[in-house]
Amino acid sequence: MDETGTNGSSDGGRGSRQPVHLPVLLREVVAILDLREGLVVVDGTVGAGGHARAIVPAIGPSGVFVGLDRDSEILVPARAALAEAAAVGAGARVSLHHLAHSQMHEALAAIGQSRCDRVLLDLGVSSMQLDRPERGFSFMADGPLDMRMDASAPNSAADWLASVSEQVLADTIYQLGEERYSRRIARAIVETRRRTPIVRTTQLADLVRAAMPGHARGGRIHPATRTFQAIRMAVNDELGELERGLQAAIACLAPGGRLAVLSFHSIEDRVVKHFMRAHCHVLTKKPITAMPDELRDNPRARSAKLRCGVRKEDAA
Ligand SMILES: C[S@@+](CC[C@H](N)C(=O)[O-])C[C@H]1O[C@@H](n2cnc3c(N)ncnc32)[C@H](O)[C@@H]1O
Repeated sequence: MDETGTNGSSDGGRGSRQPVHLPVLLREVVAILDLREGLVVVDGTVGAGGHARAIVPAIGPSGVFVGLDRDSEILVPARAALAEAAAVGAGARVSLHHLAHSQMHEALAAIGQSRCDRVLLDLGVSSMQLDRPERGFSFMADGPLDMRMDASAPNSAADWLASVSEQVLADTIYQLGEERYSRRIARAIVETRRRTPIVRTTQLADLVRAAMPGHARGGRIHPATRTFQAIRMAVNDELGELERGLQAAIACLAPGGRLAVLSFHSIEDRVVKHFMRAHCHVLTKKPITAMPDELRDNPRARSAKLRCGVRKEDAA
């Protein structure tokens, strides 16, 4: 299950009002990337810079760190965090780009690089996105039904829900959300939108809850968790982006370079596993998962799977 349902307070219990995002499997990511001075590292999903803060000092002043995110808003805290990390640790040259990870060659070209030595992809959404009701990712607080990671993208979740066919909606909720009541939920959405547009997060969450049988409404996770996850993945074409991002990583990595991917969804993990087998010498026969100490501090880590491979000489 993706992190959307385990949202809750992500301020680490510190009482801060500013949402923070705890980087998942941080020690493990840093270790498996085998970071050394002078490397060129692409973080394709830099977010607010949780992993990046550890990478930048590790590659030293001769290193180059390139961070990308589809969300321009999240690059603001990333910039501040990385300036600090670079100053403290005599860290790498840092450049941040509002681009999808599938466009990493553009980011590298913009700073005069053609190749990189390491690529990290940490998929899904950041707690900083989930915790802002105005971004529309969460059913925990009312907000516009947006869910776009890139606010300049044309279609919000509300737009998508207004036009998608019942069949495609049901299939999406079933496949991307692994939701067994997908057909009932799709039917309820289509019936509701005939009467009134579905434009608020809590409106959708209530509707999904009401569409489920009574015995399925309790439980550890909110009944709308899976449906929200599926709609978010569809609106942002997350599986398409993953395929394109993996291809871009192999095209940009120098032979012998390393690709590490953190996924939170079984379909994504399957895509990553097969891709790595085809293009890399796999370093993680089984995916690396979180240790109990991390699970205690960060519920998002529960479904995380880390895979890493070394790009084959002849991969293309
Ligand atoms: C799980 S968060 C990354 C958190 C980051 N590693 C950290 O520790 O702070 C995922 C981030 O990737 C971004 N993202 C998702 N899909 C993307 C894509 N295709 N290209 C670029 N960024 C993407 C999201 O906007 C989000 O900020």
